[in-house]
Amino acid sequence: SRKYTAFPQVPLTERRWPSRTITAPPRWLSTDLRDGNQAIVDPMDAVKKNRFFDLLVEIGVKEIEVGFPSAGATEFDFIQSLVHSGRIPDDVTVQVLTQSREDLIRTSFASLDGARAAIVHLYNAVSPAWRDIVFRMSRDEVRDIAVAGAKIMRDEAGSRPATDWHFQYSPETFSTAELDFSIEVCEAVMEVLAPTPERPIILNLPATVEAATANIYADQIEYFCRNLPNRESAVISLHTHNDRGTGVAAAELGLMAGADRVEGCLFGNGERTGNCCLVTVALNLYTQGVDPGLDFSDIDRVIETVEYCNQIPVHQRHPYGGELVFTAFSGSHQDAIKKGFEAHERQNDERWRVPYLPIDPADLGRNYEAVIRVNSQSGKGGFAWVLEQDQGLKLPKKMQADFSRQVQRMADEMGRELNAADIWDVFRRTYHVQV
Ligand code: KIV
Ligand code: ZN
Repeated sequence: SRKYTAFPQVPLTERRWPSRTITAPPRWLSTDLRDGNQAIVDPMDAVKKNRFFDLLVEIGVKEIEVGFPSAGATEFDFIQSLVHSGRIPDDVTVQVLTQSREDLIRTSFASLDGARAAIVHLYNAVSPAWRDIVFRMSRDEVRDIAVAGAKIMRDEAGSRPATDWHFQYSPETFSTAELDFSIEVCEAVMEVLAPTPERPIILNLPATVEAATANIYADQIEYFCRNLPNRESAVISLHTHNDRGTGVAAAELGLMAGADRVEGCLFGNGERTGNCCLVTVALNLYTQGVDPGLDFSDIDRVIETVEYCNQIPVHQRHPYGGELVFTAFSGSHQDAIKKGFEAHERQNDERWRVPYLPIDPADLGRNYEAVIRVNSQSGKGGFAWVLEQDQGLKLPKKMQADFSRQVQRMADEMGRELNAADIWDVFRRTYHVQV
């Protein structure tokens, strides 16, 4: 069988359990308009990009990667139009990505001409597969490419004093590269750009292709943070993809292992299986009592815009956002949820303790109608709940069992989900109610 040996492991003696409890949100960077956009069938036009940008601003994202300006005129022109559009608030910084080539770097700076502040994001591939197969380069040559790029960035920034420039460097495919080599390259880039704790460099450590369990990525982040000289002059940023389905977990463990910033896309758009989903990471924090600083209180509006811009539907089971993620059809779940809501109202409890619901749907702007939906698998509690919500009719306990049999029979006959009108209809016919 084929061997997949993709990732260097931190030596056992160096491993620690993730050492930090997260009590504050990380810095967030949305790469929806770059990593996300480069992965969709029909890339966004300027109208969609502007709409997405405005949405990100409304949510509260303060760092937004807006494109890859050296890729072509469309990207370049969009970034220039955005910069001059007046839609970038003072507390939002745009970021652009560039490969480490002189003409591309200069084009990237030019695309930001007129910006108040900007992050230029330089990257080159450092891991063995890319070195050996894609570029046929030695380690020294790869390091020199990064250093040469950093020098051009420094010079370009110096010659364009009207903008407040910040620098980001990514050793691409960090998670499959030798850790000490990644540190060596980052250190060399830092020597050129001379970051300080007051003006740090952003070092973004991508799991370009997710190749190991999330704890391995976290070990790598922790090792990097512990061994990077001048660590206090760097913001450590995470950029995880989702090839193994654990992009969110990797970002979360990476934060616990010492990182400061998370890059990702709303609802996990991005290359192949996507980038880490910023909505999920943020709301996971929220459910642990940490305010993520991002506003998802009207999640359906967010979904509507994201679906329109990406032309990709958000899956019905996507954490927090999916249409079905707060819905119970089965009788026992409905019964528990109903009791949970009743207790919640009675006790006026600060804590959210409704069984089967990890978060109060109302916090995301969802109403409770969708929570209990009924089909042939539902039980008496569910039918009674729908009748009560719809008609204000509270059925006595003894009547619920009989009524439930009638509704289940109808659900079996119809072979579909029942709505409130169907249930009221069964009630009227069974008990000969006249209206
Ligand atoms: O996944 C990746 O490595 C990237 C880099 C360009 C940061 O998107
Ligand atoms: Zn990426």
